[in-house]
Formats: sequence, C-alpha cells, structure tokens
Amino acid sequence: MSKLFIEGCHRLNGAVAVHGAKNSALPILAAALMADGVSELQNCPGLSDVDASVAILRHLGCRVEREGHRILVDNTGLSGSDIPDDLMREMRSSIVFLGAIAAKTGAAVLSFPGGCELGPRPIDLHLAALRQLGMAIEEERGQLRCRVRGRLKGCKIPLSFPSVGATENILLAAATAEGTTTILNAAREPEIEDLAAFLNSSGARIRGAGEGTVVIEGVDRLSACCHRVIPDRIETATYMAAAAVTGGSLVIKDVEPAHVATVFPAFEEMGCQIDVWKNELLVSAPARLRRVRSVRTMPYPGFPTDCQALLMAMACVADGTSVFIENIFESRYKHAGELMRLGAKIKVEGRVAVVEGVPVLSGAPVECTDLRGGAALVLAGLAAEGETSVTALHHIDRGYEAFEEALAGAGAVIRREDGTV
Ligand code: UD1
Repeated sequence: MSKLFIEGCHRLNGAVAVHGAKNSALPILAAALMADGVSELQNCPGLSDVDASVAILRHLGCRVEREGHRILVDNTGLSGSDIPDDLMREMRSSIVFLGAIAAKTGAAVLSFPGGCELGPRPIDLHLAALRQLGMAIEEERGQLRCRVRGRLKGCKIPLSFPSVGATENILLAAATAEGTTTILNAAREPEIEDLAAFLNSSGARIRGAGEGTVVIEGVDRLSACCHRVIPDRIETATYMAAAAVTGGSLVIKDVEPAHVATVFPAFEEMGCQIDVWKNELLVSAPARLRRVRSVRTMPYPGFPTDCQALLMAMACVADGTSVFIENIFESRYKHAGELMRLGAKIKVEGRVAVVEGVPVLSGAPVECTDLRGGAALVLAGLAAEGETSVTALHHIDRGYEAFEEALAGAGAVIRREDGTV
C-alpha cells in the first residue's frame, strides 16, 4: 500500500503546470473508436482512468499507442462490442463508452456501473435518451445488453437534469444517427464543448455545445482527426487551493482561465488575489484565509461539485464559519470525517456541511475516500502542523498526474512511499 507523507505548514511558492482534462480525455477516447483511421489526441493526462480507457479500447480491438501525453487510436481492427466487468469496475465513467460502441458496432454489452463512493450514481437518463434514439436496451442480472437495428434515429431529448455523462452519451450516439437530434437542458460543462469539438473535427455536425440546447445533425461516418484536450479546470482549482491553504503564492501554467472563473469569487471572498494572464494564473493568499459565506455546488457554470472538497480544506483553516450545500451528489462529504481527524470542526447534516475554521490543523493518518476528497486531505495535510500520512492513493492517481512532484517543486515537504503497509 502506497502512502504520502506530508510535513505541513510550509508556504507554497513557485510554479506548477496543469495537465489535460481527465473528464475531457475519457469521452474523447470513447469517441475515437467511432472515427475511422488513426485519431491523434494531444495533452492526454497520465492517469489511471486514462489507462482504463486505453485498456477498454484495446479490448475492443483498437490499436492504441501512447507516447507521453500523445495517444494514437486506430479503430481499423475494432471487432468487439463488450466491456468486461473488471474494466467497468475500474472506472465507473466507462458508461460513456456505451453510446460510442453501440452507434459504431450496432451492439454493446457492459455491466451496470452501479453505485460509487459519491452515493448512488444512476444512469437512467443515459438509458432513457439512448432508447429514445432507437437503441434496444435490456437490463438483466447487472448487465446492459444493447442493440441497434440499422441506424439510430435523431429526435428531441429533453433532460430532466443536465447530466454530464448523459449529454456525452447522446452526443456520441447522435453524431452518426439518421436525422437531427436536439438536446434540451444539456450539460454546459467545458468538457462537453471539447467532446463536440473533437467530434466536429471528425466530421460530425454539432451546434450549441456548451449551451443548454445542442443540435446534432447526424452524419454517415466520422473520420480520424488530431485534437488537443483542454486544460483540467479541477486540477487548476486544486493548485489554487494548495496556494491558498498554505498562505502561499503560486503561478499556475497551461490553464484556461475562463473555465475556472466559476470558482474565483469563492477564492476572492476568502482573501486570495487572482491575477490572470493569457494561460496563467497567479494566486496569492493571505497569511490566514477568511471564511466563505456559502458554497453551493451547481451544474456548470455554477460552482463545481468537484471543487467542494478542495474549498472545504481551505475553510477548515479559515477565520470564521463557512457553509457548504452539495446539490449534485447525495453523499459527497465522506472526506469531512477524515478532515476531522486532522482537527477540523465540521458538522454535516444531509446536503449541508458547516465548517468552523480553526487556526491550525494537526497532522494525523488519514485515508482517501474518493478522488477529490483525497486531494482535499493532501491540501489539509499541507496546512497541518506535524506529519500527515495519506493512504488509499489509488483515488488520487485517478485524477492527478505527478501530484506530489508538482507540490514538492513549489516548496511542499511531501513524499510518497510505495509498498509500505
Ligand atoms: C461528471 C464528472 C464528475 C463530476 C460530475 C458533475 C466525468 C468523468 N465525471 O460525472 O467528475 O463530478 O460530472 O459535474 O466527467 N444522474 C441521474 N441519472 C443519470 C445521470 C446522472 O440521476 O442518468 C444524477 C447523478 O446521480 C448525480 C447528478 O445527476 O447526482 C450529476 O451526474 P452527472 O452530471 O451525470 O455526472 P457524471 O457524468 O457521472
């Protein structure tokens, strides 16, 4: 079992660079199986979730080559239409392969992704939308068996909630459907726009991605293209929070400032100064953060649920009481219990968490509960007196490439020990 050891209370100062967005790379890798020829994806992060997507593509018969952050996907040998259970379990977002596989091969068999560490994560919106497009889907004994007779047929799909994954599955399935598909109340996340940009470069005809109404005119086929994945806005916010929680100052490079602007007001309310250049941010934090009145997670362009835990780590050491309202996932406060081991004062009641800031946290052993919750524990460890050890690092490795190296490069005292019990 790997462990991170952090000696806290060192101000971060320096520069870090952000990688490509995990949540863009995953659906785009799924899309690549639909595009005939060799697709080239640049700026793909080196993460275990990307490894899992590559494993799925190879299992399906695609040839995949990886060279640093560049991935080549050749779909010429595509022969399979199933995702084995172990690969589905490895990455729950592999459900986004459903639309791509079924649209391309006429069939798909995969296991139900089931619940996850963020609470129940249903896929009813995905399935209802794909059925509307004409996909026959049978659910039996934890398996989804999908079949498409001829081509899918475009239609109007109103989503009752702007689900990111459902919007992506519809984009993938509708790209080569017959006729026009209109998604109403579509998710507006930048990763949706990025997926649509990849699909359009491959020959798809998608308008309005990034807005609430997306119109997809189906085309006969997609052809490979070259695409650069957008910067990861959640990784960006994580480094902003690392500067903030240590009272430090960080230049964060290779970012898309417009995509993280939704978190700026909360950081500024807590006393951080944010200077924006083209693709760089300078985040400077005061010696002690102020509380944030309230953080309400909402679909984009609201405050991202993936940044809730990061802000909570900051609130733990802020002056005053901060209130969090989690509107996206039912059980996304598992990190709160671990933060409390470090001396944080947090009360959770359903979707609300109240955090009373303390002057300083104290180091202790903690365990990651999920990806962003795990990052929040590292942030809290950076702000804690003495040594914090963090276990269950597989959660962090799903979403952060060379995390501790980047933090250590900016002055954090942090090291990973592999294989310690
Ligand atoms: C994506 C992101 C994740 C982020 C989330 C919300 C990826 C790989 N993951 O997850 O990091 O936290 O968006 O911004 O891009 N829901 C249903 N039925 C459905 C689908 C969703 O009830 O069929 C509910 C979910 O349970 C959840 C909410 O809708 O409560 C949001 O889910 P969704 O937007 O689909 O998130 P994901 O695509 O799973």
